[in-house]
Amino acid sequence: MQRLSPSNISCFILHIFLIFPLSFSLRIGETCSSSSSSSCDSGLTCQTCAANGNTRPRCTRIQPLPPTSKVNGLPFNKYSWLTTHNSFALKGAKSETGSALLSPTNQEDSITNQLKNGVRGLMLDMYDFNGDVWLCHSFGGQCFNATAFQPAINVLKEIHAFLEANPSEIITIFIEDYVVSTQGLTKVFNASGLSQYWFPVSKMPKNGEDWPTVDDMVKQNERLVVFTSKSAKEASEGIAYEWRYVVENQYGDDGMKDGSCPNRAESSPMNTKSRSLVLQNYFPTNPNETAACAENSAPLVRMLNTCHKAAGDRWPNFITVDFYQRSDGGGTAEALDVANGHLTCGCDNIAYCKDNGTCEVPPMSPPPPAAATPTTIENPSQSSSNFANTDARPVQVRWLLATILTKTILLQIW
Ligand SMILES: *[C@@H]1O[C@H](CO)[C@@H](O)[C@H](O)[C@H]1NC(C)=O
Ligand SMILES: *[C@@H]1O[C@H](CO)[C@@H](O)[C@H](O)[C@H]1NC(C)=O
Ligand SMILES: *[C@@H]1O[C@H](CO)[C@@H](O)[C@H](O)[C@H]1NC(C)=O
Ligand SMILES: *[C@@H]1O[C@H](CO)[C@@H](O)[C@H](O)[C@H]1NC(C)=O
Repeated sequence: MQRLSPSNISCFILHIFLIFPLSFSLRIGETCSSSSSSSCDSGLTCQTCAANGNTRPRCTRIQPLPPTSKVNGLPFNKYSWLTTHNSFALKGAKSETGSALLSPTNQEDSITNQLKNGVRGLMLDMYDFNGDVWLCHSFGGQCFNATAFQPAINVLKEIHAFLEANPSEIITIFIEDYVVSTQGLTKVFNASGLSQYWFPVSKMPKNGEDWPTVDDMVKQNERLVVFTSKSAKEASEGIAYEWRYVVENQYGDDGMKDGSCPNRAESSPMNTKSRSLVLQNYFPTNPNETAACAENSAPLVRMLNTCHKAAGDRWPNFITVDFYQRSDGGGTAEALDVANGHLTCGCDNIAYCKDNGTCEVPPMSPPPPAAATPTTIENPSQSSSNFANTDARPVQVRWLLATILTKTILLQIW
């Protein structure tokens, strides 16, 4: 490569910033610096996936396209929502009792951060504990200091703040419900302020009909959908009993067998059309952060197709994973975009939907190499940004500039 003088370089860099003001960043798959996720476009983090042999740090998607971004105003059940399993079981968290936590963890970022990244379904395990309702990952229906994360009100307030700040967003909560205290859930939802957004059970379709449209839910400000695993609470507290409205496949290791998508025990069979909503679980029995990037990649999309068939040609409305930010490239975001493409416009990916109802598949570029010689594995925790911008950008030009700039700097400065 021809050597440039330092003044030429500054001039060159200046030109780049004049042409692409403040937008010099890397796209999905491009090699990034593992010490700085901010080098990637918004909606991406820099990570490797050693479990797949992908040791070259590359920009990796963590945010699905907003489901309503291409086709808005459809019934709620015509969209697919990113859902986190044990959303509250945050890696590195300490129990608010002060005790060390013995429970395994399933996610790497706070509920607030998950919501920023486009998570719209939350799985929360709730228990009576210390005279309050706590988020706990426990056994025997009993919460202990060493399995108690924090009082549920904290997280419900985070959800409340998000709904307040984002008046057209809808959130669904799936409660694994161990609360037996009288009106225990109602009290904590009341206290959090979330009751004002409650989507009433009376409006939930009981026999496979479409849900109200998302527009309608937004207009009525009924933007919080809550399901409990306790049937009696539908009558006593107006909290929908999940298995009247949703089918779910098996969770854990038994739900990760290629080519099979059985229902979990509590759920009706996957193809039960009188349940309007379909939820796909895809995470192992023991959460495994290292393996998650591989699982949340091609195998997740394969299971999406398997479960689509098992559910009677229905795409899932919720896709639930551990460590949702982990993947080898497109990840859970890509799986969501596939489901949303089929659900909203009949395209293989929501990114392909055109206004006129046609699908436009972009040309494929050859895959970049998997391996490199990195020394660190980037932790994407707490990274977030606005939803991924997938506008057509001058990819080649940006790629060329990135390459030239990198090489120039490397040659000249170091
Ligand atoms: C559990 O934590 C509380 C503080 O929240 C403490 O008072 C209590 O002694 C602890 N119980 C046990 C069994 O460690
Ligand atoms: C919850 O709030 C509603 C509406 O303000 C109220 O009618 C109800 O009594 C409250 N329930 C409990 C258990 O606090
Ligand atoms: C987690 O996954 C990695 C990579 O697949 C594997 O080597 C490791 O044994 C797993 N750990 C546990 C505790 O299962
Ligand atoms: C639909 O729009 C795309 C571009 O947005 C265009 O290429 C295509 O020709 C249009 N198709 C029809 C049938 O109008």
